[in-house]
Amino acid sequence: MHERFHYRTKDELIRKASELGFTLPFSDDVSPLLESAKAGEIIIPNRIVVQPMEGYDSDNEGAPSELTERRYLRYSAGGSGTIWFEAVAVNHEGRSNPRQLWINRKSRDKFAFLNERIRKNSGLENRDPFLVIQITHSGRYSKPDGKPAPRIAAPNPLLDRGTPEILTDDDLRRIQDQYIIAARLARDAGFNALDIKACHGYLMIELLAAKNRRNSIYGGEEPEKRFRFFLETFDRIRYEVPGLMVTSRLGISDMYRGGFGVDDMDQPDFTEAMMLVGQLMDRGIELLNITMGSPYFNPHISRPYDVPLPGMKVPDEHPLQGVMRMINATSVFQKKFPDLVIAGTAFSYLRQYAPNVGAALVKSRDVSLAGFGRNSFAYPSMPLDLMRTGRADPSKTCICCSGCTRLIRNLHIGGCVIRDKEIYGKELKKLIADGK
Ligand SMILES: Cc1cc2nc3c(=O)[nH]c(=O)nc-3n(C[C@H](O)[C@H](O)[C@H](O)COP(=O)(O)O)c2cc1C
Ligand code: SF4
Repeated sequence: MHERFHYRTKDELIRKASELGFTLPFSDDVSPLLESAKAGEIIIPNRIVVQPMEGYDSDNEGAPSELTERRYLRYSAGGSGTIWFEAVAVNHEGRSNPRQLWINRKSRDKFAFLNERIRKNSGLENRDPFLVIQITHSGRYSKPDGKPAPRIAAPNPLLDRGTPEILTDDDLRRIQDQYIIAARLARDAGFNALDIKACHGYLMIELLAAKNRRNSIYGGEEPEKRFRFFLETFDRIRYEVPGLMVTSRLGISDMYRGGFGVDDMDQPDFTEAMMLVGQLMDRGIELLNITMGSPYFNPHISRPYDVPLPGMKVPDEHPLQGVMRMINATSVFQKKFPDLVIAGTAFSYLRQYAPNVGAALVKSRDVSLAGFGRNSFAYPSMPLDLMRTGRADPSKTCICCSGCTRLIRNLHIGGCVIRDKEIYGKELKKLIADGK
């Protein structure tokens, strides 16, 4: 049964988890989150990650605008060890909306300038945050000019609206070249690492699942064919763009029919994701960010919440089940690949207790880094509070109201409507006044 978060003490929260059949890991001491981590040769200053969060606020050329800068400077001042930039498009056609960031020759210098400012503004004494850029093509969810313009990897009767255009192998080769160009630009703009986004229903994960793709070297029954585009892109960036770590945000199960990593009952089956991570390990991957589900089809899987988007039904499951699904699934991968630095996610529902749960998981080596998505919109200075007081302030955390998602779904600038009211609360009011 779904419930809003109403737990006043850690004991109440732990008890609820136990009623649902889970043992919620919890550590009163958050210091494991404040220790450094090593990914390959790189030292990451602490274990707190700002997860990628789209803000729909680029300028006309896809470059960071003043509002984008504001978001990222707040993250860096707040002391997170890793700032994982939101989804940045490889080309115009693959943008999820007209204001999605897009790295290209014209926008590169503004990304470089922002990265310099982020480093200067770091709340970490004498240490720079680790900067990752997430590169993507939105595939089925492309809306470059504000209207849906889907370009898909393979048909999926569950998701197809009308007859969307299927990208040919030649189209994919062209897109792959654009990933390489984007990677070079990202390295030149000062990013430490590049994430080939393969999650949340966008093009790359669709290709991993593309059993229905016919007459193509990039799809079909065999996983080798479905993995080919992703692994080729990974290899090419590693060899053609030296000096840039290559990572991925990988959706280990879409949890819908025809998606990646699901069994006949549409439940998670990690066999193929394990196989893929094994192949990435053979290629020397050092860092991985794990997620599940699709924000379009089953948003409660990837971001357990109190309140759904208007018009969406309240999920049947308790949000803690969603949190625990993600924790347990991530742990399976971390245990199987102990040398890989894995970032976990979906902690924001836990409010002020989220860092305690993250710290417990880091201590028990069930995850290497704890990532915060919505809570970073709401409370970017949480890491500093943890350093100073050892606890998170409940009056500053995300309350999982879905307001930020509501803004960006309606093509408005995105941020926290509750804790950053001056800008985003006002924006929500405008949206409501427009009857949306
Ligand atoms: C408004 C919004 C924008 C998001 N943008 C991205 C994105 O650009 N890339 C991505 O991988 N995930 C994105 N996510 C998912 C988050 O990174 C994260 O996985 C999710 O919110 C669950 O973590 P949390 O419980 O800490 O919020 C977004 C989520 C929200 C709510
Ligand atoms: S609007 Fe703020 S409080 Fe609501 S879900 Fe987004 S970050 Fe959390």
